[in-house]
Formats: sequence, C-alpha cells, structure tokens
Amino acid sequence: MDYKIHFAPLQGYTDAVYREAHSRIFGGVENYYTPFVRLEKEGFRNKELRDIAPEHNQDVPVIPQLIAATPDEFRRIAAFFQEKGYRQADINMGCPFPMQARLHRGAGILPYKEEAVALLDTIREFPEISFSLKLRLGWEQPDESLALLPFINSLPLAHVTLHPRIGLQQYKGTVDMDGFSRFYEACTLPLFYNGDLSSLEDIHSITDRFPSLKGVMLGRGLLSHPWLAAEYANGKTLSATEKQTRLAGFHRLLAEQYSLRLEGGDHQILAKLKTLWDYLLPDAEKRLRKKVIKSSNLTVYYSAVKELLS
Ligand SMILES: Cc1cc2nc3c(=O)[nH]c(=O)nc-3n(C[C@H](O)[C@H](O)[C@H](O)COP(=O)(O)O)c2cc1C
Repeated sequence: MDYKIHFAPLQGYTDAVYREAHSRIFGGVENYYTPFVRLEKEGFRNKELRDIAPEHNQDVPVIPQLIAATPDEFRRIAAFFQEKGYRQADINMGCPFPMQARLHRGAGILPYKEEAVALLDTIREFPEISFSLKLRLGWEQPDESLALLPFINSLPLAHVTLHPRIGLQQYKGTVDMDGFSRFYEACTLPLFYNGDLSSLEDIHSITDRFPSLKGVMLGRGLLSHPWLAAEYANGKTLSATEKQTRLAGFHRLLAEQYSLRLEGGDHQILAKLKTLWDYLLPDAEKRLRKKVIKSSNLTVYYSAVKELLS
C-alpha cells in the first residue's frame, strides 16, 4: 500500500518560502497546506495575501486552508481562493487557539453541531473546488467529531485529516488513539492520521495499526527532521553526509529567499531564521544550538549555523 505524506500547516513556520525550499530540497510530500487564512473586520491580512499569491506558490503542490465560523465567512474566503486560481481548499476545524475557538472557529465549532453542519454544507456552493477537512476529536469531548461524522461522510470531501486530541488539550498530553480508532472505523472517506509522528517507526506503527488510511500528515516531526517524508516516500534512509548537504542547501535557500522577501532588514531576517530552530534538529549538540539561537546579528548567526551543520 502506497501511503501518502502531507505536510501539516504550521502558522509561523510553513510559509511559502519554507514550503518551496522544502519541496525543492527534500520533497517526499504529496501536499503542503498554507497556514489558515481568516477574515478580519478589515478583510484579509497582507501576510496571508502574500502567502497564498500564486506567484509565490509555483511548482509546489499547495492546498490553501481556511478557518471560518459562518457560511458567510466561508464563502468569502473560498471565493477568494477560487479567484486566485486554486481548485482545492482545506477547512480548519482543528485549531485550538482560544482567540479563534471562542469565535466558534477551528475546533471551537465542534460542540455546536448545527453550526458545523451549516459551515460544511457551504462546500456545495463551490462545485469547482475540491475540499478537504482537518479536525480534532472535539473541543471539550472526544465524541463531538463522531456526532458529526455521519454528516461528514455524506459530503464530497477529497479527504479528512484527524488529529486525535481535543481542543482544550492544545498540544499537551497524549494523543487519544482509541478516539482515533472509533473515528477510523466509522469514516467512509479517505482518512489521514495526524499527531506526534517524528520517525519512520512512528509512521509505520500508524499505518500498521490503521491499514485503510490514505496516509499521514506530519507537522512538528517534519520541521524537526525535514528529510523524514523523503525517506518514507523513497523507502530508504539518507546517510549522515547526505542529510548534512541537503540541510546546508535548505538553509542557504531559506536565508536567500527570506532576505529577498522580508522588508524589515537584518533584524527581521535574523528573527525569522532563528524560528527555524524552535524545532529543527532537536538532537544536535546543545552548545552549538544555543550559539545559533543566541546569535545577536546575521554574521554571528551564519557562522554558528555553519559550525552546527558541518
Ligand atoms: C505553531 C503551530 C501552528 C499551527 N498552525 C496550524 C494552522 O494554521 N492550521 C492547522 O490546521 N493546524 C495548525 N497547527 C496544527 C498542526 O497542523 C498539526 O495538526 C499539529 O501540530 C499536530 O501534528 P504534529 O504532532 O505532527 O505536529 C499548528 C500547530 C502548531 C504547533
């Protein structure tokens, strides 16, 4: 069975520059997702407009993601994606950020079945777009998603991705594999598992346990080990030297592209590059990682990265 790997959307990390560099240097990913696009009172935010602009997403299989509380918000964002030429879109019903959840967006809509049904039903107004859905087990209770599942099954969704935590957990505690199993048994749509996978063994243990999956979505595990999807897709591990070479190329490309696109000067470029290390190479030598994270200007930063990657 040929399981697919999707790269999870991670606000603040998997922007257009990152997605393109990852796809060029590592690959192994069937689909990338944009971090969620939302509507503010003032309309769309510039950062999001830039991130989904078609000219910044060429040659990468990207699915834009929307987060909305009402059919009206949904329509406006979906119409915007369509206008930009997208024919696929992902619906976020998993975000646990309280700022979004209290507006009944993301996982915050899951306890309100009628609202969730009305939101999802809006996909029928966009027959040209192939929608997918990403959700959690619930906001407060893990059976909120199960209550919605008969309706979800009736929709023409390309696939569903389930992260088996509840919203109140944020990213803490453990994933609820029994909860995932109940959803898996009753879901008739192509299903992806998402949550806490960071090695080939982790991926295999999920596909062994849930063989009917379409694939898995990797988030923080892929930010930490960017070669993981390629190793899985190609069925062979990369040597230490190969990883080192690709990482150096990946970092060079990111630095080059952020330098071109960020307008706030060296300070902003440095801050952006440093965020890579929130997750990247958690097992690297502590002293060298610290040097990278603590560097106070770009010259010091580049020399610290060179030392770490050599
Ligand atoms: C910093 C951060 C930002 C995230 N942003 C989004 C987002 O924009 N849309 C979304 O659906 N999920 C978002 N997520 C959730 C991830 O896509 C994913 O579901 C979660 O990290 C669990 O998968 P993982 O354990 O493989 O990382 C975010 C998670 C984190 C930690």
